Amino acid sequence: MNFESAKSQLTKVLVTEEQIQTRVAELAAEIDKKYAGKEVLLVGVLKGAVMFMADLSRALNIPTSMDWMALSSYGSGTVSSGVIRIRKDLDAEIHGKHVIIVEDIIDSGLTLSWLQATLTSRGAASVEVVAFLRKPAAAKVEVPVWLVGYDIPNEFVVGYGLDYNENYRTLNCVAVLDPKVYS
Ligand code: PRP
Repeated sequence: MNFESAKSQLTKVLVTEEQIQTRVAELAAEIDKKYAGKEVLLVGVLKGAVMFMADLSRALNIPTSMDWMALSSYGSGTVSSGVIRIRKDLDAEIHGKHVIIVEDIIDSGLTLSWLQATLTSRGAASVEVVAFLRKPAAAKVEVPVWLVGYDIPNEFVVGYGLDYNENYRTLNCVAVLDPKVYS
């Protein structure tokens, strides 16, 4: 699905395709600067981070490798418990590696808080977080995040990896979903 075909189900574009590309380049430059001379393992959280990971990793000059985790939080319906289940773990050991967690969005912060602690406990040399979007008003826990692309309002957003019922991930912008779609 592209923007044209989804347009009638969206109320507003929050981050345009051009803004995404500009910000990704800025974030990549920060990473290149901080990790100059080092090798980094980028850990993407499926599935939302796929688009951001694809763009960010290709914008980097430093040597990187890539691994993925799939997580889901226990709890009923929309209430997140903060207890996370690993649906797909990393393929390789991370002991002694410089890890950057690549996230599409920080909502409550519960997923990231757990992931940061977990990867640190596995003996990574360092663990930093780069998130493309963050909803400050939705935070339930404070998570130390190194880089954020955009802080956004607490609205239901889709596109650039983010879905509603697995739809809209392929939009090239981040947009607010019309409440009529889910009410
Ligand atoms: C989203 C997002 C983060 C998490 C953030 O994933 O990709 O991983 O939720 O929420 P939190 O800060 O409240 O923990 P989701 O569970 O929707 O899976 P998906 O990426 O496969 O769509």
